[in-house]
Amino acid sequence: MIEEIKNLIARIDTFNITSQDDLEKFRLTYLSKKGSISDLFAAFRNVPPELKKETGALLNKLKEAASSKYEEHKIKLADTEESFKGDLTLPAEPLVLGSRHPVSLIRREIVNIFSKIGFTVAEGPEIEDDWHVFTGLNFPHEHPARDMQDTFFIEKDPDIVLRTHTSSVQVRVMENTKPPIRKIFPGRVFRNEAISARAHCIFHQIEGLYIDTNVSFADLKQTLMFFAREMFGEKTQIRLRPSFFPFTEPSAEMDVSCTICGGSGCNVCKYTGYLEILGCGMVDPNVLEASGIDSEKFTGFAFGMGLERTAMLKYQVNDLRLYFENDVRFINHFRSSY
Ligand code: PHE
Repeated sequence: MIEEIKNLIARIDTFNITSQDDLEKFRLTYLSKKGSISDLFAAFRNVPPELKKETGALLNKLKEAASSKYEEHKIKLADTEESFKGDLTLPAEPLVLGSRHPVSLIRREIVNIFSKIGFTVAEGPEIEDDWHVFTGLNFPHEHPARDMQDTFFIEKDPDIVLRTHTSSVQVRVMENTKPPIRKIFPGRVFRNEAISARAHCIFHQIEGLYIDTNVSFADLKQTLMFFAREMFGEKTQIRLRPSFFPFTEPSAEMDVSCTICGGSGCNVCKYTGYLEILGCGMVDPNVLEASGIDSEKFTGFAFGMGLERTAMLKYQVNDLRLYFENDVRFINHFRSSY
């Protein structure tokens, strides 16, 4: 029996395993219940006592040799197979491209909507002087918006600030352009606010300005109605509520019928059926005159809306902070929209 075991050890050593079939054959020959090692263990009972020690040690060595060879080749074969598993003729997986940020998507959508009715884009600086942010827009000197609470000051006297709204671009455009003017101004704005789900110290606005002869409040209303229906769907209703801005007179705030319930009332619109979306009004004659436009000859309207706010209504994501954190788990929701 000792001879037999030694022979087997030698044979195991030279057994050539290059495929799964070889590996299975090896297992059946040596390691299975019906294999030769199992037979030898069965025969061990009949070994005379004086040979038991030597035979036992050899038997264990045999078993160890067979099992370790088996395990070693099993791993080796699995490795090589894996690298050849794929069909090399298939096209490669497409590279995952980044997606546009929801605020960029909204900005582009709004710009596209207004471009259909002749509005072109203009931009202005984010760091502004007092004139373009406040004084040129008819803010009285003691107006609370100039307060340290709301405005980030870069310098005092003369005041240089981070613009608190995109209305500053209105002033720049009116100073440099002869009417008719039909423009929109997208951009970043800054306010000294505590960050919460509903407020942030940086956000985006789009401002619109239309100045010509005979522009009336009816034009404003039709323009905004067109925008609301393009943006939120044909059935959207709008509602204008009287409001106040120093640079428009009369002024209004516009609500759109709730994007969730369509106006019947739900917890998003707090059962009012409407959601506030923008501020607007007829450009105050003082503002036209301050920028060198004859207010006897020309009239105009302006409106301004927050992009994050519009995105919240459109995408029904109700925490403003998500738009600034750039968490890819959030951003990836917008991947399909280019
Ligand atoms: N600038 C205003 C704001 O930031 C919005 C607005 C723009 C209102 C134009 C009327 C006209 O709230």
